[in-house]
Amino acid sequence: MRIRQIREDDIKALTDICVKGMEFDYFNEDIVREKTINAVDYEPELGMVYELNHKVAGFAQCSFGKRNDHPHGWIRLLVVHPVFRGQGIGSALLSECESRLRGRGAFSISTMDAVPNYFTPGLDYRYTEAFCFLEKHSYERVGENINLTCNVSPEMFQLHKEIEGLKTKGFDVRRAEREDTSAVLEFIRREFPLWEGEVREAFRNEPPSLYICWRKNKVVGFSAYDTNNKNTGWFGPMGVDPGFRGHGIGAVLCRACLRDIALQGHRAATIAWVGPVKFYARICQARIDRIFWVWQKSLSL
Ligand SMILES: CC(C)(COP(=O)(O)OP(=O)(O)OC[C@H]1O[C@@H](n2cnc3c(N)ncnc32)[C@H](O)[C@@H]1OP(=O)(O)O)[C@@H](O)C(=O)NCCC(=O)NCCS
Repeated sequence: MRIRQIREDDIKALTDICVKGMEFDYFNEDIVREKTINAVDYEPELGMVYELNHKVAGFAQCSFGKRNDHPHGWIRLLVVHPVFRGQGIGSALLSECESRLRGRGAFSISTMDAVPNYFTPGLDYRYTEAFCFLEKHSYERVGENINLTCNVSPEMFQLHKEIEGLKTKGFDVRRAEREDTSAVLEFIRREFPLWEGEVREAFRNEPPSLYICWRKNKVVGFSAYDTNNKNTGWFGPMGVDPGFRGHGIGAVLCRACLRDIALQGHRAATIAWVGPVKFYARICQARIDRIFWVWQKSLSL
């Protein structure tokens, strides 16, 4: 056996492991690349493949950053092929993740809520093996996150009237263009600094998968899609300046993205890692879809 870095020619095998090993999720090669070797925050030493008899038996991809101002590590993905489970491979990968992140100075490590490039905002509560696995390795459940879903079709979101209505109040909602980047980032850094990475990702898409609301040459709201798990109907994040809430800006911004998701051919959107359930239930009839637990462990001992 050996643990080595992830290579481009592993992607097919890693995708197969994810598809067979995580039955409550959807994977394809693009998503696996986006979470590993093509991740904006990719660090080769934090990605690892476990080989057994020249076969890829499992892998893990971590990321490193700051949480609440403290150095923190995330396990973005850790999956063992079902055929190779129960032999200590998951434990070996987890221990390697912990030791590499400790080596980077991480005080703590958590599962899957790896901002900005996360696959899911925690571990789906139904993964029973992983529940037992993480408990055994002294992880504690420290939080819960929710994904909503809603149906989408292009006809559901005719926005002309709503956009005109906002114009009469001095608000201009439109798709972001590349020239808007610095104005948008200035707004995001001021109001929603945690979302800068995802907004930058939205600008990398062609066209930018981002709508903004302007008032007197200032950005006062934004909504984005395809910032994570691209081409799966992934909506979020979005936010409106607290001084301009209650005018219907958020509803229009959100619906503009949902309309685009419908035009991409999706029949449902994922509204990830919420937040204001009532707002989405009201404006697009969203319903609670999945619940995720964040597991965490201190690395400081
Ligand atoms: C969780 C996972 C990585 C474990 O991999 P693995 O190689 O089977 O793990 P190990 O052989 O090292 O097992 C370690 C411990 O996990 C728990 N565990 C593993 N399989 C289990 C099962 N079928 N039922 C209950 N507990 C189980 C046990 O506590 C086990 O230790 P023990 O045998 O001494 O009791 C694997 O099940 C998996 O890939 N699941 C899907 C992906 C996932 O949920 N990832 C979690 C990301 S944090």
